[in-house]
Amino acid sequence: MTPNEAVPNLTLNNGVRIPQLGFGVFQVPPEETQRIVEDALEAGYRHIDTAAAYGNEAGVGAAIAASGIPREDIFLTTKLRNGEQGKAQEAFQNSRRALGVDYVDLYLIHWPVPSRNLFTEAWKAMEKLHAGGEIRAIGVSNFLADHLDRLLQSAEIIPAVNQFELHPTFQQPEVAAKCRSLGIAVEAYSPLGQGADLDAAAVTSLAGKYGVTPAQVVLAWHLAQGTIAIPKSANSGRMRDNLASGGVVLTAAEISGITALEAGARIGSDPAVAAHSQM
Ligand code: A2P
Repeated sequence: MTPNEAVPNLTLNNGVRIPQLGFGVFQVPPEETQRIVEDALEAGYRHIDTAAAYGNEAGVGAAIAASGIPREDIFLTTKLRNGEQGKAQEAFQNSRRALGVDYVDLYLIHWPVPSRNLFTEAWKAMEKLHAGGEIRAIGVSNFLADHLDRLLQSAEIIPAVNQFELHPTFQQPEVAAKCRSLGIAVEAYSPLGQGADLDAAAVTSLAGKYGVTPAQVVLAWHLAQGTIAIPKSANSGRMRDNLASGGVVLTAAEISGITALEAGARIGSDPAVAAHSQM
């Protein structure tokens, strides 16, 4: 079995299948992106997560092209830049061209930016793109409960995914529960807490017990809850290590022990106020 075969697929609310573990390229420098994504594809990842704001879509596309892997075997996500919520159709076409692909599997509104009040307009444009067949699934990122409520007042399509910061010391359980009750898949970014959650005793003790790494324990905890996770690593050994977490099975008590690490330890920005005009 290759590492990717150990990764389960989830079915999104529109029937599209997504590998539950993906490879994220947030903060991967554009000039290193092609090499790192080629390594990730070589390691067995078949789900790559980028964003227009990361400035590295071209490197992702170059890696996909160079890999020779059939396009339909790769699940590709990118995101609408905050400053382009008023022109989502044009922004999407720029992303699609930078990636060098005919279609994107998942397109997300990157942040709600409630102060600009444009995300419902952006969603309408994304619904049209989805209807046109250039996007297989549309979703959101960094949406809190009230942003979801507002979106759903005028949405024709319920988001397939909400991608937000989620790791053992920062779980946002209310957002996750709301998403699950609406049929919106929960996708964790910074799933390892950018490495900070790997030293917790509840994690390291299980790593010792099962003879696996702390990162595999944390990723197994995500997978057990039905969460999609997109760990990133610039190191090909750790990429493989992370992908192999699909083979780690924790007991209910062990899962609860990791859940008890919740500490409100947010790393990224608070979506209630974040505007990130540079993104
Ligand atoms: P590196 O790129 O040197 O492997 P997150 O996905 O939560 O943002 O975490 C990414 C961070 O965690 C990076 O600093 C990455 O460093 C580190 N990391 C990723 N995988 C592992 C692993 N298996 N063991 C230890 N650290 C890891």
